[in-house]
This record gives sequence, structure tokens and C-alpha cells, in this order.
Amino acid sequence: PPAEGPARCPAAPAAAPAPDLFTWEFAADPYPAYAWLREHAPVHRTELPSGVEAWLVTRYVDARQALADARLSKNPVHHSEAAHGKGRIGIPGERSANLMTHLLNIDPPDHTRLRRLVSKAFTPRRVAEFAPRIQELTDRLIDGFATRGSADLIHEFAFPLPIYAICDLLGVPPEDQDDFRDWAGMMLRHTKAGHGGGPRGGVARSVKKMRTYLAELIHSKRAGLGATAAPDEDLISGLIRASDHGEHLTENEAAAMAFILLFAGFETTVNLIGNGTYALLRHPAQRELLQKSMAAGDSELLATGIEELLRYDGPVELATWRFATRELTLGGQRIAEGDPVLVVLAAADRDPARFTEPDVLDLTRRDNPHLGYGHGIHYCLGAPLARLEGQTALATLLTRLPDIRLAVEPDDLRWRGGLIMRGLRSLPVEFTPE
Ligand code: HEM
Repeated sequence: PPAEGPARCPAAPAAAPAPDLFTWEFAADPYPAYAWLREHAPVHRTELPSGVEAWLVTRYVDARQALADARLSKNPVHHSEAAHGKGRIGIPGERSANLMTHLLNIDPPDHTRLRRLVSKAFTPRRVAEFAPRIQELTDRLIDGFATRGSADLIHEFAFPLPIYAICDLLGVPPEDQDDFRDWAGMMLRHTKAGHGGGPRGGVARSVKKMRTYLAELIHSKRAGLGATAAPDEDLISGLIRASDHGEHLTENEAAAMAFILLFAGFETTVNLIGNGTYALLRHPAQRELLQKSMAAGDSELLATGIEELLRYDGPVELATWRFATRELTLGGQRIAEGDPVLVVLAAADRDPARFTEPDVLDLTRRDNPHLGYGHGIHYCLGAPLARLEGQTALATLLTRLPDIRLAVEPDDLRWRGGLIMRGLRSLPVEFTPE
């Protein structure tokens, strides 16, 4: 008998093998792998770098359905492995920290109650009133490198802007904000595939310090609050005061809420500014179009442009965890009770079944219902703030440093390789000094 095993028919080559996921090459450009998955295995079971097995959902239509499917819970107690005490999912340190009751870990009716309360304090109006402060922060950061002619846009711009912005909004006093910058920097530096934390001790310590600080701040603000709201009241005071049918947030819930606002609104916005700037630097015609429209005082292209940058190479690669509370079928695939499901926003937003020429960056794109901010009841609460920060950051950068360009070859850039987030480690640029 032939030693090689069964002969293959030369006319029928085997289908291309499934691409390797979660390698460094994948981190640099996951889109070819996502195209393969959308076509050949749209609901695909895979082992994540952390060892947890999960379903990846890559087609737009399935992704949108999954994000709004009440049978998919956000609560990790529904994970089949939770029953075995493996507990590998979540923010390091949060379990012991009593921070589990945040919006991204809970379902209705608790989610409905907490979301309604926080929405009373974190309003689009509060964000709009914050616009001058964001502009001031943006200018101050650019002042720090504008005369030098070169900068690392991640470390000097995209990273500090969101952390200072959220600290300001929450009401963290200026003298304490650099501590937050250090703790957040530790978390960002050590985000690793599948974990959300590298040297877990260091990250967990930073999480703990933030948590302790926020708990104390909330406690002291609560004690100092008067009977009526001050006109310039900060968000933490607003959270403490928010009431719905006579209900308030407990001190623990307010701390968890402040923490998730920081956690959800920090690395995402770093990546929006980083990935967005990078995409513009790689598409000179699009960037020129944007610069011309801004010079003419037209802000419309900036608004559609930010949405397109989110679709094209958004900050959140995979939506956060969901767990099947019962057996269900998604995209024709049976999913067992307790199985984790990860919706791949980055893949859904490049689906040719929904978007015309999905791999083309088109800042003028109008038909753009991207899933970059999620969909359904967990739709991003911070979207107005993220839009404000993204628009202000990109507009100011391109106006003040009009000839800004990459200082290295794109192949020399390193991506962080996190599982949930997609972002650059650094973004070296050059420009004519101001
Ligand atoms: C939820 C994206 C900025 C606060 C989400 C979700 C996505 C997302 C995809 C849904 C996750 C899921 O369904 O599993 C983004 C992007 C941002 C951004 C792309 C920046 C460009 C912010 C900011 C804040 C924030 C600035 C607040 C300061 C939240 C909160 C949730 C959330 C609290 C949970 C909402 C809920 O569960 O009801 N975000 N986000 N995000 N985001 Fe954002």
C-alpha cells in the first residue's frame, strides 16, 4: 500500500486552511483573516491565547443580531468555565474589587436601572459643555511637541488626552491626575492578547489604586455635597445625586460606574486618535480633502470622517464578552449553553454584504451604520465624548501641523496585539516645527 496515505485528486485542491489568529502578523493586519472567516466560517470556534474557547462572529448581519440578542448574557456567571472556578475573564483585580456590577457585566433589569441612572448624569449636554476644555487640553498637549518637529503621537498625544479628559470630567483634582496617567499607562503598556493585563500583578495593583482612590473621592464628595446642584458640578457629584423614581446609586455602584467610565473610555479613545491619525497619514488624498474642508470652515467631513475612521480601523476589535444562557443558533451555527461569544466588530464593519467597497477609506461615506460603538442596550454610553475628543484631536493636529507625516516605515510600527482592543504601541511622526 502507498506509504503517503490517501491520494488527493489533483483537480480538487483542498480549501485554503483557516488563517492563524492572534499572531503578530495578525495583530498588524487582521483584515485578510477576517475576510476568510466571513466567507468560510462566519461563526467560528477558536481557542483564545488565554486558553478560553470562544465563538467569533464575523458577518455584519450576525454581529448585529448577536449584540442585541437577550439570550446572550454579559454576566460571566453564565460562562460554562465559571462553574469550574477558572475565572479567566475580566479586568484583572476587579473580581476582588467589588466592581463586577458595572454596565458591561450585567443584564436587565439591573443594567436598565444603572444605565438610566448614569444617563441622567452623563448627558450629551454635559459633554457638549466640555468642548472648550477638550480643546484646551488638546492644544496644551500639542504645545508640548509642536516646536520640536517630531513626536510619538501615542505617548505624547493620544494616550494623555483621554485620561486627562475623563479625570477632568469626573472631577479628579488636577494635582492627582498624573497618578491616573501613571496607573493608566501601566494598564496600557501591559495589555496582552486575551487577558487585558500583562504582568498581572502590576496591572492589578494599578486597578486597585484607581479603585481605592475613586472610592475615597466619592466618599468625600458625597459628604461635601450641598442640597442643590452647583452649575459646574462634576460627573461624580452628578452620579451621586442622580435619582430615578427615588432610587440612587449606592456608593459601591457609583465607584464601579466611575471606574468603568475610565476603563471603557480610555484605551478606546487612545486608539481612535492613534488608528485614525495613522489611517489618514496612509491615505494622503483623503487627508488633503479633510484639510481643505476644514480650512473652508466646513465641519461636515470631519463628522462623517470620524465615523468612517471608526469603521475602517476602529479602536474596539472585538466587542466585550457574551455568554449563551441557553442553546441557540447564530448564523446557522449551534451554540451551546455557557459558551462564550465574541462579536468581531472589526470584521463586521468590513463586510462587503453591508458596505460598498469596505476596504476603501472614504471619509465622505454616508451610508455607514458601523458597529464600532456596539449596538443594542450596551451601545457605547461615551460615544458623544469619544466623537468630541476624536474630532477635536484630529482637526487640531491637522490644522496646527499641516505637513505631519510618518517618521518610520509602516512595517516598523508595532500593534499592541490585545484581544478586545486594536491600537499602535507608538506612532512616530515628523513635521515642520511651529
Ligand atoms: C460600551 C466602543 C469611548 C463608555 C461600548 C461598546 C463599544 C464601545 C463597542 C459596547 C461593548 C459591548 O457591547 O460589549 C467605544 C469606542 C470608543 C468608546 C470605539 C472611542 C472611540 C467611550 C468613552 C466612554 C465610554 C469615552 C466614557 C467615558 C462606555 C460604557 C459602555 C461602553 C460605560 C457600557 C455601556 C453599557 O453596557 O450599557 N463602547 N467606546 N466609551 N462604552 Fe464605549
